[in-house]
Amino acid sequence: MLRIEDLSVAYGNVKALEGVTLEVAHRGVLHGVIGPNGAGKSTLMDAITGRRKPTRGKVFVDGRDITHLNVVQRRRLGMSRSFQRTSIFPGIRVGEQLELVASQLDENDLNGIVDTMQLAAVYDEIADSIAYGDQRRVDIALALIGQPSLMLLDEPAAGLSTSETVTLFEHLAAVVRKRNVTALVVEHDVDAVFRFCDAITALDLGRLLASGSPAEVRSNPLVIAAYLGTAA
Ligand SMILES: Nc1ncnc2c1ncn2[C@@H]1O[C@H](COP(=O)(O)OP(=O)(O)O)[C@@H](O)[C@H]1O
Ligand SMILES: [Mg+2]
Repeated sequence: MLRIEDLSVAYGNVKALEGVTLEVAHRGVLHGVIGPNGAGKSTLMDAITGRRKPTRGKVFVDGRDITHLNVVQRRRLGMSRSFQRTSIFPGIRVGEQLELVASQLDENDLNGIVDTMQLAAVYDEIADSIAYGDQRRVDIALALIGQPSLMLLDEPAAGLSTSETVTLFEHLAAVVRKRNVTALVVEHDVDAVFRFCDAITALDLGRLLASGSPAEVRSNPLVIAAYLGTAA
């Protein structure tokens, strides 16, 4: 459903991504993206969603070359995202923000999303007054609006404790199956990634180290040397 071919992104003379090729075969998959700070994870998300133009390479969705499409066109094709920082608007109720986005994107199953993300209890609360863990679920709910086929989540568990991260990943693993959406999720907690993700991509210094099943990536010597060796 998603194919990235020889993708490179440069910021001036900083090569943030270099020749990354990657494939996500199916819908309904939780796909983790790991790598140290500066590895190019956020840049990869930006290049897939169209926020950042690649200097080389192509992005295909369902076999169609979408490299030339902008963010809005890609959103219409079923690509949504959340950011490394929250997308919650301060001062308005959780439900109001969800309804606003749902009306813009012709979502007719907002109740289902609220239910799946267990947001009924905070629906009438002011969005920035609710617990941080609840805010992260609102972020994911916002990305689920409009029946996306592909969600890109950049560190949705940032700022959460280890046990809150596990709970969030339990939610994510359930939501991708229930709504048949693939989520590409950047996460620092490698234990959570190896436990919950169906597939994993490891980046380092803008290059692809490994991509495959958790077992394949865990046993990859490059991954062990460059990443797990220091983090574990
Ligand atoms: N807007 C930018 N301008 C210049 N350099 C950037 C910018 N964004 C990221 N970089 C650089 O690109 C590289 C990859 O960054 P990033 O994709 O944010 O990595 P990650 O998300 O894995 O931490 C880093 O060297 C970073 O300093
Ligand atoms: Mg980042």
